[in-house]
Amino acid sequence: MKTTIYYFSGTGNSLKVAKNLAEKLGHTEVIPITSAIKENSGILFSSERVGIVYPVYIWGIPQIVSKFIKKISKTNKINYLFAIATNHTQVAGSLMILANRLRSRRLKLSAGFSVIMPNSYTLSQKEHSMDNLKPLFTASEKRLDEISLLIKDENECEIERGPLNQRIINTGLINHFVSFIFPWLDIPFSTDNKCISCGLCEKICPVQNIKLRKGKPVWLHKCEQCFRCINLCPQQSIQYLNKTSGKFRYKNPYVNLDDLIKK
Ligand SMILES: Cc1cc2nc3c(=O)[nH]c(=O)nc-3n(C[C@H](O)[C@H](O)[C@H](O)COP(=O)(O)O)c2cc1C
Repeated sequence: MKTTIYYFSGTGNSLKVAKNLAEKLGHTEVIPITSAIKENSGILFSSERVGIVYPVYIWGIPQIVSKFIKKISKTNKINYLFAIATNHTQVAGSLMILANRLRSRRLKLSAGFSVIMPNSYTLSQKEHSMDNLKPLFTASEKRLDEISLLIKDENECEIERGPLNQRIINTGLINHFVSFIFPWLDIPFSTDNKCISCGLCEKICPVQNIKLRKGKPVWLHKCEQCFRCINLCPQQSIQYLNKTSGKFRYKNPYVNLDDLIKK
């Protein structure tokens, strides 16, 4: 049976997961959410098995995933809908938010899986190099083997969630309030004196939130908080407050830049 996977990815983890899963399932189309939401009319699925792969941001879901769900046509008839939330150990209530949003489009999330990947949140980055990340990639690959079998069987699985306190405090309270100011959370981004005006940040932002003015990036307050700009800046010149200077920058090593910025 054909499967369609829609994904959003900042630093490549979710793209890597989407691609791996597509290989394991076979006969699968992988579509960036950034291009799917450009449809003027309601989004119609081209297969009866559909998946959404996205990163957990601030214990919730990226705004662009919410926008995508709002655009899904209510006339879709599908057999099986699944989601994978890539995260760095705190999935919290993210997949439950997703299931609720989907319900409002008359869609039932049959399975919601958490897959742990390296951290893209530079502020809490503890790594110093790629060297320690290998076991995490091996574990996620194994996890995807299990998940792909469940998806092939179209198993109805319990939606994965973090502990109750994480769901109440982190998702229910913090994510809920932060979601009102989410696009403006780019105010603390800036460049330091290492910026060489190469313009890569403008080119790679998935939602065109960065424009170069007088050779320096300006953030336009429609930010998805994907942290692609800060992680991929070749000079490591982009900073968030004074909390990121000298910290390790991360991009999934198994995806290339062209794939990541494909619309
Ligand atoms: C702004 C931001 C917030 C994040 N919040 C969480 C979180 O609440 N819980 C968690 O486990 N990981 C969190 N992460 C880590 C990402 O979910 C994780 O690294 C993910 O795999 C990144 O996927 P991507 O490369 O496809 O963007 C956050 C990352 C960013 C940039």
